[in-house]
Amino acid sequence: MANPPRGDAEVLLATASGSWALDRDAAALVDACGRQGVRAAPAVWDDPTVDWGVPLVVVRSTWDYTNRLDEFLAWARSVERTTALANPAEVLRWTTDKRYLGELADRGVPTVPGEVLEPGTTVGGGAGDALGRQLAAGHGEVVVKPTVSAGSKDTLRVGEDDLDEGLALATRLLGEGRAVLVQPYLPSVDARGETGLVHFGGTFSHAFTKGAILRRGAGLVDGPFAEERITPCVATADERAVADAALRVVAELAGGDPLLYARVDLVHDDSGGPVVLELELCEPSFFVEVDPDAADRFAAAVRARLGR
Ligand SMILES: Nc1ncnc2c1ncn2[C@@H]1O[C@H](COP(=O)(O)OP(=O)(O)O)[C@@H](O)[C@H]1O
Ligand SMILES: [Mg+2]
Repeated sequence: MANPPRGDAEVLLATASGSWALDRDAAALVDACGRQGVRAAPAVWDDPTVDWGVPLVVVRSTWDYTNRLDEFLAWARSVERTTALANPAEVLRWTTDKRYLGELADRGVPTVPGEVLEPGTTVGGGAGDALGRQLAAGHGEVVVKPTVSAGSKDTLRVGEDDLDEGLALATRLLGEGRAVLVQPYLPSVDARGETGLVHFGGTFSHAFTKGAILRRGAGLVDGPFAEERITPCVATADERAVADAALRVVAELAGGDPLLYARVDLVHDDSGGPVVLELELCEPSFFVEVDPDAADRFAAAVRARLGR
C-alpha cells in the first residue's frame, strides 16, 4: 500500500531521512493501522516543514540520532509540548544511553556486567585497566562500545591479541567526548544469539532470535546498522520473567503507564540465565515479519492510545 498523504494522517511515524525505505517494519505497520481505521504516515523527525500537531507521534526509524542526541531529544520534548509522543521524551532520554544498565542492575534486574569510562579517561588513567578487568571477568574477550549507540556502530570485540584496537577505539570515542562501555564478551551469543522480546501497550507480543554480530578482526560497521540475521523464536519463561522485571523498572520511571512499544534484548550468561543486553525503547525494529499477528497488535495498541 502506498503511504497515505501526510496531510490526512492522525498518527505520524517519525523516521530519519533515507531510513523509511530501510525500515523493514514500516509498510506492515502502516497497513495494519489502516486495517484498524488509523491513518498513519511517515515524517522525518528533523524536517522543518512537518507539522507535528497530530493526535499521536510514534518514534520509529530515527536512526541518525546517535551523533545528534541533544538535538533529537530537544525535538522530542518540543513535540511533546503539543501532542502525545510515544515513547515519552523522558523515556527516550533514559534509554538512549546504556548507562541505564547500571540502574537496572542496582534494582536487581540481571544485566550484562561491565563498566563505563567517562570522557577524559586516558589509556594510562583507567581505560587500559578497565579492558584488562573485563577480559579477566569473562572468557578472554571484551566488547568496547559507546554508551550512546545503535546498530552495532563503533562497537568492537577484541581479545588479548588485538586489545590495542579496542583501546584505540575507546581512546577515539573518549576524545570525541563520548562515554564508553566495556563488557566481557558473552560467548553464548555465538551459539544462541540474542533474544528480542517485543511488547506493545505493556503486553508481550512476540520474540525473535538475532544471530551473533561481532566477529574478531572484522573492523567497524559501515552504514546505518550491521547486517542482522533474524529468526522467529519462542521466548522461555525465564526470558519472559527477566524482560518483565526490566519493564517494571521502566514503568516506575515512566510514571506507571505502559509504553506503547518496548523491546528487551537478552543474552545468556555462563549458567544459561538470561541477562539484559539492551533495552530498546526509542527506535527499535520490531521484526513483525516473524509473527503474522504482530503488526495488528501494534496497530491495536496505537488505536487504544488514541482512545478508540
Ligand atoms: N557483551 C557482549 N557479549 C556478546 N555480544 C555482544 C556484547 N555486547 C554487544 N554484543 C554484540 O554486539 C551487538 C550490538 O551491541 P548492543 O549492545 O546490542 O548495541 P546496539 O544494538 O545499540 O548497537 C549485539 O547485537 C551483540 O551481537
Ligand atoms: Mg542491540
